[in-house]
Amino acid sequence: MRVGVLTGGGDAPGLNAAICGLGRRLVAAEAELIGFADGWRGLIHDESVALNHADFQHLLIHGGTLIGSSGDNPYRDPDVMVPKVLATIARHRLDALVAIGGEGTLGAAERLHREHGVKVVGIPKTIDNDLEATDFTFGFFSAVEVATRAMDDLRSTAESHSRVMVVECMGRHAGWITAYAGVAAAAEGILVPERPAHIEELCEKLLRLRASGANSAVVAVAEGTRVFENGACLSSMEKDEFGEYLTGGMAQLVAKKIKQRIGWDSRHLVLGHLQRAGQPIAFDRIFALRLGARAARLVLEQRFGFMAAMRAGEIVEVPLAAAVAQRKTLTDQFLDRYETFFLPIQGT
Ligand code: F6P
Repeated sequence: MRVGVLTGGGDAPGLNAAICGLGRRLVAAEAELIGFADGWRGLIHDESVALNHADFQHLLIHGGTLIGSSGDNPYRDPDVMVPKVLATIARHRLDALVAIGGEGTLGAAERLHREHGVKVVGIPKTIDNDLEATDFTFGFFSAVEVATRAMDDLRSTAESHSRVMVVECMGRHAGWITAYAGVAAAAEGILVPERPAHIEELCEKLLRLRASGANSAVVAVAEGTRVFENGACLSSMEKDEFGEYLTGGMAQLVAKKIKQRIGWDSRHLVLGHLQRAGQPIAFDRIFALRLGARAARLVLEQRFGFMAAMRAGEIVEVPLAAAVAQRKTLTDQFLDRYETFFLPIQGT
């Protein structure tokens, strides 16, 4: 059997572990694994490398992806790109193609399967954790760890200078990283895209905090948060090519507004790509390894159009279409549950 693999979209800690789980299982079954370079770009331009047993040694401990990644997508220009992808698949006589990625990568895999009968299997990844049909995606908890530690570390400098530190987390239009890291780091304010963030309410909360004796605070803000002041949205109204609001710049904005409105000295920090960098935490290594192994099983059983996923702690398979049907964002239930205890999420 000849099996292709690609990693697409933003990298996430655990990609190499997923390749490792897939590769070890396939090689043990005497299948050949071909890595396509830089996501769909490798299939569009036919750039590949054969992966063998030696490549998998220690691979799972490393961050990034051995075979590179990009945001290229054949459906950006389907008339030109899709035939190129199909030609590469035919040229390599692939019996299956494993796509490791998020919404965009798996969406293209699902369409190629549905429209052209390409024999695909998916593996979900994204630090944003915004994919349906799986409890979590690998890379998410590694990113949460980075963000949590950063907020913990900022406490000492915040206390020394009696400041508010506003920390911006990635996640695009989902607040998962911000919410988890904010809760874990006991942030005094947590602003997420799922609820509008009113500067007035945040400042009132900070004033109450200061009146209670606190000299410093940490505020976690997601890059995709919609920030309002006097009822007007201060976040960018510009949209990207997919019609979605551009994200970023929220920590700087919030820190500036805190200083302006209540005079509490504030600084901002954008964690950025550090959240995708470095080695995966142990959980993500094992999680990704298991997803890779399950994807190999699907390939060997010739069951296509599925994605390996986690449901209630178990590794299962779900239809690819279910995973890409809609984006998974923080639910009201999640937000309410934490509010009940101690979480000062905005809007309360
Ligand atoms: O989807 C993963 C992600 O890291 C988002 O959280 C972030 O908004 C985006 O990718 C950054 O993309 P790029 O690496 O292209 O700057």
